[in-house]
Amino acid sequence: MVFTIKPKISPVKGKRIVLGISGGIAAYKTPLLVRLLKKAGAEVRVALTEAGGRFVSELSLATVSGEAVLKGVFPETDTPGADFTRHISLGEWADLFVIAPATANTIAKLSAGLSDDMLSATFITLRPDRPVLIFPAMDGHMFRSPSVQRNIRTLREQGCQVFEPESGALASGQCGPGRMAEPEEIFGRIKEAFAPDTSLAGTRVVVTAGPTRERIDGVRFISNYSSGRMGFALARAARKRGASVTLISGPVQLPTPEGVLRIDVESALEMDAAARERYRETDIFIAAAAVADYRPASPAGGKLKKGAAEMEVKLALNPDVLAGFGKEKRPGQLAVGFALETAGNLESARQKLERKNLDLIAFNTFEEEGAGFEVETNRITLLSRGGAEIPLGLMTKEDAAEKILDALRPAGGSKESKG
Ligand code: CTP
Repeated sequence: MVFTIKPKISPVKGKRIVLGISGGIAAYKTPLLVRLLKKAGAEVRVALTEAGGRFVSELSLATVSGEAVLKGVFPETDTPGADFTRHISLGEWADLFVIAPATANTIAKLSAGLSDDMLSATFITLRPDRPVLIFPAMDGHMFRSPSVQRNIRTLREQGCQVFEPESGALASGQCGPGRMAEPEEIFGRIKEAFAPDTSLAGTRVVVTAGPTRERIDGVRFISNYSSGRMGFALARAARKRGASVTLISGPVQLPTPEGVLRIDVESALEMDAAARERYRETDIFIAAAAVADYRPASPAGGKLKKGAAEMEVKLALNPDVLAGFGKEKRPGQLAVGFALETAGNLESARQKLERKNLDLIAFNTFEEEGAGFEVETNRITLLSRGGAEIPLGLMTKEDAAEKILDALRPAGGSKESKG
């Protein structure tokens, strides 16, 4: 394995992208998306709905895109020379159409083929082979309503990529699915649409993710704060590159990445058993789970009663899922682990790499801002078996997942031959 993180020409360079913005609060994030696209060399034009214009200013979008923002389908004047075919202009021009945020209303209009504004007209005048990426954002109840779900199904059947909204705090005060994906995430999806990476096609990847729960009695357990996001991002990233991916997950609140086989487990023993079953048919084993090192040695069956002023719970050592794979690893199989350490303790991570017979370890710390459990970002340093050390800086877990997979690429970029 060789570390190669080369600067690449962005797949969006020179591409013509129409960004459709409808009326959700997440619209305020769209100038950032335009900037990311422009910086990468894309041409961007914006189709803004009337409602979208109430959440983000036309002036901001025109400034960052360098183009007039289009809202209605009618030309400003009806004098000769006016743009009488404006309603079809963006649809004919675009290499890709991205709609973010897509409200319930806009999704309904698109699925029904209405065309009373620039955004909806662009949708039905787009060339059939052009990718359409839709990022819904709305209140959780609206998103789950049968009508919205039916419209999303219709759009998917037509070949549109409709992405699941993310979970989190919503403008309504609720918490749940409904948030628009972040601009960086949307930017990543646009890049993928232009340059699908299939470097892991034919590769079988197993990812462990999330915390484990170790039962004390029938109603209590020992666990940790792992959200599962890093492991889920890795599973999604590997799948995107064409791998067949099995995700063995402890209890988390995350949707299953598209096309990934998910096995839900609770305890370290269950995770170990699920992983062991797949050792032989695994090409790359990535352990992102925060497995509890110990479990209560004899969990009680019912609910333990309160009694003495003190109580002791005897703990037994759990199997190390990753080390188990490392031990049985055959030539050609790769093992990747994480090392959550106190800041600066790279040496401990390197020892883990040796001890568990890994090819790559991602050192991270819970002590720095923006890193560790329950946050969207991570600050990782990759350590390879060959001694390389690559600090990745602060980045989203999605980007970190991409970098980890990049680092597994053999020199030359093709898939490593299997032994
Ligand atoms: N790991 C595992 N099974 C365990 C413990 C850890 O598969 N029972 C994996 C984790 O998924 C991670 C790596 O081993 O990829 C390192 O985990 P970490 O908790 O940092 O290290 P430990 O080996 O548990 O050592 P320590 O807690 O003493 O630092």
